[in-house]
Amino acid sequence: MAMRLKDNMSGVLTAEQQQALVGSYDVVGDIAIIIIPESLVPCEKLIADAVLASNVHIKVVAKRGGMYGGEFRTIPLVILAGEKRKETGVREFGIRLRLNPERIYFSIRSGYERRRIASLVTPNESVLVLFSGVAPYPLIISRFSSARVIIGIEKNPEAHAYALENLQLNKKQKNVILYLGDVRVVIPTLSENFDRVVMPLPTMAETFLSDTLRALKPGGYLHFYDLQQPDCFADSVAKITAACDASNRRVESFSIYKCGHCGPRTYRICIDARIH
Ligand SMILES: C[S@@+](CC[C@H](N)C(=O)[O-])C[C@H]1O[C@@H](n2cnc3c(N)ncnc32)[C@H](O)[C@@H]1O
Repeated sequence: MAMRLKDNMSGVLTAEQQQALVGSYDVVGDIAIIIIPESLVPCEKLIADAVLASNVHIKVVAKRGGMYGGEFRTIPLVILAGEKRKETGVREFGIRLRLNPERIYFSIRSGYERRRIASLVTPNESVLVLFSGVAPYPLIISRFSSARVIIGIEKNPEAHAYALENLQLNKKQKNVILYLGDVRVVIPTLSENFDRVVMPLPTMAETFLSDTLRALKPGGYLHFYDLQQPDCFADSVAKITAACDASNRRVESFSIYKCGHCGPRTYRICIDARIH
């Protein structure tokens, strides 16, 4: 959930300080994650206390202590107010997820996109979710489709451990199998190819395309995420076309979905492509 930060700050900050605020913040479970610009560091505790006081459901207020980075796309968090913990529970379309947003990647803003993908899955499909994190895609797809099997692969051991815990928490989701490892290592060990493959790693999914195409049945669907400027969406399609050319495959049809913003003039997009 994204919340407006400025709403809570009159009487706490001067008008000039309010101008410097980053407009909104995410709430992951009961943890509010705020961004404090350099100029507001001296009043960060005041800001955090105001956020904590603004909503009884918020129990921890933390600030981003850096940028998303590393292979596991994690971000350092510094607790400023509330309880001294970083683990929380999230509910997404009735699915329960435990996670620590500092140790694993989880975007609270991608819930509708996960639900959109689940709505495309037809009965009896086999679905492969690469980069599956704490398993939000596998669990949402399992809950809202009649897929035969959904396999997730995740390399971050802590994310995989949460994913296994989340599978237990959502007991009805019996068609989900989760593997720990690098997708390049795990894909060749899988005993079947898939009707649908989801690739939620927008920073570098293209480097995994040739491995992914090997796991996709002819006529299967690929969901390829990318970060792209508004007038360059065709470049993302070209990445898939190039990988298909190199693998003797063909893009039969595609559509492009905007599913989020990542900074000024940059969209998170998903290319839904049917591949022969
Ligand atoms: C952008 S996150 C997406 C996580 C999850 N699907 C979600 O929607 O919350 C990408 C994930 O890919 C994982 N990852 C990165 N490289 C990987 C690789 N080579 N093999 C498997 N997982 C990888 C990261 O640890 C991270 O959890």
